[in-house]
Amino acid sequence: MRIDIISVVPGLLEGPFSHSILKRAEEKGLAKVQIHNLRDYAIGKQKQVDDYAFGGGAGMVMMIEPIAKCIEALQSQRTYDEIIYLTPDGATFDQVMANELSLKGNLMMLCGHYKGVDERVRQKFITKEISIGDFVLSGGELAAAVLADAIIRLIPGVLNDETSALTDSFQDGLLAPPVYTRPAAYDGMEVPDILLSGHQAKIEDWRFEQSVRRTKERRPDLLDRE
Ligand code: ADE
Repeated sequence: MRIDIISVVPGLLEGPFSHSILKRAEEKGLAKVQIHNLRDYAIGKQKQVDDYAFGGGAGMVMMIEPIAKCIEALQSQRTYDEIIYLTPDGATFDQVMANELSLKGNLMMLCGHYKGVDERVRQKFITKEISIGDFVLSGGELAAAVLADAIIRLIPGVLNDETSALTDSFQDGLLAPPVYTRPAAYDGMEVPDILLSGHQAKIEDWRFEQSVRRTKERRPDLLDRE
């Protein structure tokens, strides 16, 4: 998979992809993330990428021309399965979307800033609008990093057995069960006997019960979905 991310603050995206699982995914040749500085496609000597909103009001709007130049330059090199715009008014990201996007070949992500992008960018180029939750970030970069992380870890071969995504929360529609490691007793708190019993089938039953209980308590809305 290849993910191209367009940003006016590319520095915000330098960290996440050079560590741990995401770095390994790139080293294994399973996922490549390329950051593009929108300013490289800016207009005029001022390197302008935003302007005042028609109709007035506080806040700047990202202009269509630099974004169009950047997107078209990328499109001339490869075909994209989705061109995603990160925005608080998009569809809320979840594990189902992460699974779907992990099956794609090439993704482009556009990070908004200021008051957002000129509406015509959305009309002309964007195929999916995604929010990571009902709150407003100062830009789409951290949201793009969240998406990329959730998507890349699902690509077959990225995780090894110990970190398999199959047992993650949400992957089966339930929250994950509690987990324990050594020591078996700490400050009077004991690990449940069943986990030390060696009965694998009973352990799986217990984990499932705990998952259902935890989901009922914390996220009953997940059980109402079809
Ligand atoms: N940009 C600003 N806030 C955002 C959010 N909640 N999700 C995605 N992109 C955003």
